[in-house]
Amino acid sequence: MSGAPVRVGVVGYGYWGPNLVRNLDRLGDAELVAVCDLSQSNLAKVASAYSNVATTSDLDAMLRDHGLDAVVVATSAPSHFAIASKVIAAGKHCFVEKPLTLTSADAESLVRAADEAEVVLMVGHLMEYHSAIGWIRDYIAQGELGDVLYLYMQRLNLGKVRTEENAFWSLAPHDISVILYLLGEAPDRVSASGAAYVTPGVQDTVFANLHFPSGKMANIHVSWLDPHKVRRLTIVGTRKMLVFDDMEATEKIWIYDRGVEPKEALPYGADLQLRFGDINVPWVPMKEPLAIEVQHFLDCCRNGSTPRSDGRDGLRVVRVLEAADESMAAAGAPVATGMEV
Ligand SMILES: NC(=O)c1ccc[n+]([C@@H]2O[C@H](COP(=O)([O-])OP(=O)(O)OC[C@H]3O[C@@H](n4cnc5c(N)ncnc54)[C@H](O)[C@@H]3O)[C@@H](O)[C@H]2O)c1
Repeated sequence: MSGAPVRVGVVGYGYWGPNLVRNLDRLGDAELVAVCDLSQSNLAKVASAYSNVATTSDLDAMLRDHGLDAVVVATSAPSHFAIASKVIAAGKHCFVEKPLTLTSADAESLVRAADEAEVVLMVGHLMEYHSAIGWIRDYIAQGELGDVLYLYMQRLNLGKVRTEENAFWSLAPHDISVILYLLGEAPDRVSASGAAYVTPGVQDTVFANLHFPSGKMANIHVSWLDPHKVRRLTIVGTRKMLVFDDMEATEKIWIYDRGVEPKEALPYGADLQLRFGDINVPWVPMKEPLAIEVQHFLDCCRNGSTPRSDGRDGLRVVRVLEAADESMAAAGAPVATGMEV
């Protein structure tokens, strides 16, 4: 592509689509050309906020008529596969909100189609673009935590109650993508327990364990039936421990120089010793993750590079989601993800 702005269309202007549109509108590298939605009232909102942007409820017409380079899909998850398939078939770069699809077979099919069409396929794993997560990844890579032993993530709130998908499909894509991104490893099996207290058949509260071939362990607790809004990641390493609290305005990362002294570091026969050291709160400059994510998509469209959260990343996350569903249906029995490391 030339240095001209990437001509972008957006499908889906419900709850989340406006945030993507806002960023596309203000980033100089994009020209927001058209928005498609089935709802006339949502299209009216687009027209009043962005007078130069075309609105339509006809996806085929949008793909055909506007000379688009790329399309952002922000509809609800059941429609992702059909819409993204059309976008890719039309030869447009495609950004799809999480989760990429509802089945791994569909995700595989999108990955293959994007490869064949030589277009960018990116999934909106927003947390991979969070400045704090990037900082933590570097910190782990520098060996500061020692070996990561286990980690757990909590994403809890009262609401937003959804009925089309369970809380794990709605919330955990963020946690799964962060865990895979930080560990650089895919889980070989998943066991999950969930309960549907609000809507029959739709789990609103889920606890899932991810087991990794290296022996690392990750736990994810998601719920939209909880008194507290919690967005927290805890990582325990052999040298230090780290807590990331995304509800904190500025002091988001806390590093605890704590642990249990390894036996080989102690005189023979000595009891295990607990180590309590300093607590550090590093300063990490923050930028809106969505702005970084959208800019990354535009950069990839421009230079044809593979996004950090590409289709294969989306596929891995869907495999974990599927395995968790299967495990919940089997009373928490471990389910193989079938993923290679
Ligand atoms: N990254 C994040 O943090 C984040 C946060 C919230 C939602 N999301 C994701 O964004 C996506 C949308 O979620 P939402 O909460 O905005 O949903 P929503 O139901 O509020 O909005 C979806 C919009 O898409 C439109 N739509 C549905 N099918 C369509 C079709 N075939 N053609 C055109 N328009 C269609 C609907 O009319 C609606 O306006 C989901 O994948 C969700 O997981 C991501």
